[in-house]
Amino acid sequence: MKLTMIGTGYVGLVSGVCFSDFGHDVVCVDKMPAKIDALKAGEVPIFEPGLEEIMARSVANGRLSFTLDLPEAVAEADAVFIAVGTPTRRGDGHADLTYVFDAAREIARSLKGYTVIVTKSTVPLGTNRKVEEIIREENPTAEFDVSSNPEFLREGAAIEDFMRPDRVVVGVESERAQDVMARIYRPLALREAPIVYTDLESAEMIKYAANAFLATKITFINEIADLCEKVGADIKSVSKGMGMDNRIGNKFLHAGPGYGGSCFPKDTKALARIGQEHASPIKIVEQVIDINDERKRKMTDKILYLCDDKVAGKKIVVLGVTFKPNTDDMRDSPSLTIVPALVGAGAKVHVVDPQGRKEGEELLPSVVWEADPYEAAKDADAIVVLTEWNEFRGLDLARLAGEMQDAKMADFRNIYDPDEAKTAGFTYTSIGR
Ligand code: UDX
Repeated sequence: MKLTMIGTGYVGLVSGVCFSDFGHDVVCVDKMPAKIDALKAGEVPIFEPGLEEIMARSVANGRLSFTLDLPEAVAEADAVFIAVGTPTRRGDGHADLTYVFDAAREIARSLKGYTVIVTKSTVPLGTNRKVEEIIREENPTAEFDVSSNPEFLREGAAIEDFMRPDRVVVGVESERAQDVMARIYRPLALREAPIVYTDLESAEMIKYAANAFLATKITFINEIADLCEKVGADIKSVSKGMGMDNRIGNKFLHAGPGYGGSCFPKDTKALARIGQEHASPIKIVEQVIDINDERKRKMTDKILYLCDDKVAGKKIVVLGVTFKPNTDDMRDSPSLTIVPALVGAGAKVHVVDPQGRKEGEELLPSVVWEADPYEAAKDADAIVVLTEWNEFRGLDLARLAGEMQDAKMADFRNIYDPDEAKTAGFTYTSIGR
């Protein structure tokens, strides 16, 4: 199949690269010349394990290319995927659909022959119908169908998630379009990945409901963790015991400093707005949003408490600033609330993060970047773990404590054993235990 991907952000690039690995001919389109030039030169703009290798292989065998020329790429395609950004609109929490609708208009003008236009971006209820309307308005004689095909990949595990998904969701309303989508996903179907065919609105809803549910699950366990601290229970045991119930499941039950990233904050806000607008508020999700925002501030208080309410002039080492490990993404990361609050309170913050510096230098301007945790710990007054990079799990705690002026640690990802940390000499606090 000939596929065109509009937008080379996270979802667009990963999907385009993976589709080319299925054996399809894929053209990725973007409006930014610098981005296309870099991709043509083999540079991958995001840190995603495995992506660079597959991209190089597909380019070498001629199945993947990059262009600024949308009309040509669309004219050739059997299916055109819209994978442009849908950021939160300032002021009202709605998803900003400008890029999606602009892309639809441009695609409409270039269609030749029957084409399926597939929305991969996460879009509010009714957007696929609107895309259909726009295309029909713009090009009344075009032969096309629209399909909603939300993407569930996680950053840092994107290739694995794309290649071995729990399910593929396809909103589609004609047999002809369903046939095209089935052919595109045939390699996954052959590996027995379930494909859920449904109507456009249900496909749109599945994506929001799934992400909001996961955000709720995390928020739930975070609140249970706080209560565990008060009553002397251990959240790790509690999560384990709960997760063994198949109806609950053991995933997304890790308590931490609050969820971040490019999806959960944006999608929970968008779903809350959609509910309000249809006079059917999702109150539980509205609460989740507030609790998660509040949590990031609470984490700062926890650090202050650990440091006897005095951080001015103290050296604090933050391990991990990306919103989770195996990514360089800082979007809505808890560190963006916690680090500036510490700096604001007068602390000298040193940061170690295997990938965070590229984005972080601009977002966290008043910190010192360090490569080595032991170096960073020299004469420090406290260590704060914000992201559970594997690189931090195996640190020699006694050596780390030995480097410090005052061996205090706030481990907000529970990556160390409290007894071991104490034996190593730390005054140690973590989450929910
Ligand atoms: C998420 C969804 O998982 C994915 O299906 C969707 O397509 C996009 O949004 P992503 O944002 O890449 O993916 O990261 P994810 O691994 O889901 O983590 C999101 C946030 O939740 C991170 O900040 C992470 O630290 C936090 N989290 C996750 C927890 O605090 N506890 C957990 O148990 C799991």
